[in-house]
Amino acid sequence: MEREEFCWAYFQMAPSGLIYETDPWKDLKAHVHDIGKTHLRELMNDVERCQSMMTDFDGILLDYSRQCATLDTLKKLHTLAEAAHLKEKINRMFNGERINSTENRSVLHMALRAPRDAVINGDGKNVVPDVWKVLDKIKDFSEAIRSGAWVGATGKALKDVIAIGIGGSFLGPLFVHSALQTDPEATEFARGRQLRFLANVDPIDVARNIAGLNPETTLVVVVSKTFTTAETMLNARTLREWIAAALGPQAVSKHMIAVSTNLTLVEKFGIDPNNAFAFWDWVGGRYSVCSAVGVLPLSLQYGFSVVEKFLKGAWSIDQHFRSAPFEKNLPVLLGLLSVWNVSFLGYPARAILPYSQALEKFAPHIQQACLFTVFVVSMESNGKGVSIDGVPLPYETGEIDFGEPGTNGQHSFYQLIHQGRVIPCDFIGVVKSQQPVYLKGETVSNHDELMSNFFAQPDALAYGKTPEQLLKEDVPHHLITHKTFSGNRPSLSLLLPSLNAYNIGQLLGIYEHRIAVEGFVWGINSFDQWGVELGKSLATQVRKQFHASRKKGEPIKGFNFSTTTLLTRYLEVWKT
Ligand code: F6P
Repeated sequence: MEREEFCWAYFQMAPSGLIYETDPWKDLKAHVHDIGKTHLRELMNDVERCQSMMTDFDGILLDYSRQCATLDTLKKLHTLAEAAHLKEKINRMFNGERINSTENRSVLHMALRAPRDAVINGDGKNVVPDVWKVLDKIKDFSEAIRSGAWVGATGKALKDVIAIGIGGSFLGPLFVHSALQTDPEATEFARGRQLRFLANVDPIDVARNIAGLNPETTLVVVVSKTFTTAETMLNARTLREWIAAALGPQAVSKHMIAVSTNLTLVEKFGIDPNNAFAFWDWVGGRYSVCSAVGVLPLSLQYGFSVVEKFLKGAWSIDQHFRSAPFEKNLPVLLGLLSVWNVSFLGYPARAILPYSQALEKFAPHIQQACLFTVFVVSMESNGKGVSIDGVPLPYETGEIDFGEPGTNGQHSFYQLIHQGRVIPCDFIGVVKSQQPVYLKGETVSNHDELMSNFFAQPDALAYGKTPEQLLKEDVPHHLITHKTFSGNRPSLSLLLPSLNAYNIGQLLGIYEHRIAVEGFVWGINSFDQWGVELGKSLATQVRKQFHASRKKGEPIKGFNFSTTTLLTRYLEVWKT
């Protein structure tokens, strides 16, 4: 059966239909033609339009006037949101309904940052008291470690932490750690301490993590929602051996702790359940940074009070997302614009370009949570080719997210963004630098220099440069086409007042909810990740073959010609 036919056959069976069959979707499809007639150069001349395409929340300014969109486009996108029942879906999420239907789970990561007196129900029970029980435990534990009240097996204070985890149990905490590293307040609290992350099963990552560390002064945190992830468990066993070899097996209980939803397996591994920090199945791995997954290692490094500010920032966005009208709602606007760019204008990628080195791990974190289409590309965590009802999608969803801090990115991939493919860009800037530098006698600070680029790039993309302009500049004829920029390349700018723990939490919240908005409009389940399972099970088959060949000398069997050849080469080399 052809793909179109296949999709249509399934569509007939869909309990709730697909968004692309609705009139607002069709209306937007037709509208693409109108937009194609107007260049961003002209759109940017309309000051009223530009004014309407800016919105402010809690000091964060979103300027989306450089999107290839008019006020009419926006109106149509809001009508699409209505057709997709966006408001109801957001409410269902906040009300703790099991919207992750394929795993029969609620999606309540917002409860992780709720104040103590908030009420958020999951299955009819307020989950906030359980959240705070764990937060209080983290506070006490991290203070004991930081103050030296809790010491290692040889009586020395534990000043270094290795957090073992992968995917959602790694990228979020890494992003926040790297963003806080130069925040003056956080730095003050981190003095004399180190936090490292061990994610890759590659033994090189183990070697790099333990390099220069003394097991006597090191605490290892094993972070795994399931406590079964092959990479994390192997790394955990490796570091358990590292500690036991240096300090004896009895030292493990003083030097290893865990974060997991599976406390039975934690205990089986040999970690004292009293030193385990729980979270819940209503927290998706990639949305878990505000649980003990992130809060524990970050509190060990920076102290609980700094991390609490991060949680408050994310919570402020939760409130905004839930209550602000859609026309002023940052995650909703960002989500709708992404849908416009991907599904209507046909731009499959999105560049996340923070003009702050502190945000260098932001794009890698967002990549795992982004959505993609099964027909075009594939990324780690949230790739869906079917609707929430299991119907194959006949339209493009999601985007390929990538990014690099400016200005570094300008010297690598921006060429393609300016003159190659059209890639909608998110420019993220900060008014007040974490580390301002003013050179004597210079009126433009180092941060000003960075931000000059933040302000210039969106216009370069929007306006481009015409052959007429180049001729006026006496550019030689043979270089005119080379130096011409078509422009009309969409971007948006997000300007944050500063980059402290609170703002970092806000940025996280904005992007987390933006992803939910996209998924809600596309009608897919943004909260499961079946797409990663196939690779995992095939790796298990290979692992079994290693065992059979090495232990029992059994020949390679059950693989295709290509894999058999590769495995033969690998095992041959190993033999010699
Ligand atoms: O890569 C798939 C995945 O299951 C992610 O969803 C998750 O964040 C990661 O692996 C790690 O899983 P765990 O926390 O259970 O070790």
